[in-house]
Amino acid sequence: MEIIQNPEAMNRWSREQARSGATICLVPTMGFFHEGHLNLMRRAATLCDLVVVSLFVNPTQFGPNEDLDRYPRDFERDMELVRREKVAAVFAPTPELMYPQGFQTEVRVKHLATHLCGKSRPVHFSGVATVVSKLFNVVQPDVAVFGQKDFQQLAIIRRLVTDMNIPVRIVGHPIVREADGLAMSSRNANLDPANRAAALSLSTALQLARTQAEQGLRSVAVLATLLEQHIHSFAGTAIDYVSFVNCETLEPMDEVDECTVLALAVLIDGKVRLIDNGYVLPQKAD
Ligand code: PAJ
Repeated sequence: MEIIQNPEAMNRWSREQARSGATICLVPTMGFFHEGHLNLMRRAATLCDLVVVSLFVNPTQFGPNEDLDRYPRDFERDMELVRREKVAAVFAPTPELMYPQGFQTEVRVKHLATHLCGKSRPVHFSGVATVVSKLFNVVQPDVAVFGQKDFQQLAIIRRLVTDMNIPVRIVGHPIVREADGLAMSSRNANLDPANRAAALSLSTALQLARTQAEQGLRSVAVLATLLEQHIHSFAGTAIDYVSFVNCETLEPMDEVDECTVLALAVLIDGKVRLIDNGYVLPQKAD
């Protein structure tokens, strides 16, 4: 497995592989791998000849008061984990290589980035769209795999490649969860035992919404109140949003239907911000 730091070297590597006829699948990450990331890599290996994982804690997607400094990192552990997977190369640049002196371009997907996380994280999605555009240009993958855990991010990246005619096929992968339902996240490493218990407020809220909707409750106003009470019953939780949105436009909905996704963001103990989401009603493909 190759570990490549320099964007030009990465680009040369990719071009050489493409010349010899290999297809490339990219899995963009910020590292501190868990089973969610590893599942994305395994999925990628089924889609192309070669898997490239990018590992870059992207400073431009963190706001000034966010957790860039506290974001968990362990490069050696990550390399140990990734070596066990079918990964041909890891692209791990430094911030200076990605954003050298004089850098001033920003990629912004306008409307989709204003909903949900975009409200409390105004610079986040332009940082994501900018870095993902750069990663696509550097690695030149045929396919890129993203998790449905970051549902809004996935919608924005699909829009980005369509709008900008980027020739990369985007594949969304289902949320990988702990045995008790908590969606895996690198940020879970920052939860102490009490906060770990409070973190279950998100996945159990999702379950509660599904049970209620299946029993016929479709009013978003009523469901949202129920869920807010449920989440607040866990000590140390502060709700950022409980939103029922259209699965394509991310516009808020009044009534639950087949295309309704419940998206949740909760701040645990004032410091760890967790998200979760899922369709409220069973999907035909399930
Ligand atoms: P990161 O949070 O490291 O996530 C990397 C990829 O793993 C994303 O596509 C994310 O949706 C996916 N992922 C995380 N947890 C998951 C889970 N429990 N189940 C399934 N997939 C999961 O998302 C980012 O990094 C960054 O914003 C990035 C796209 C790399 C741009 O900097």
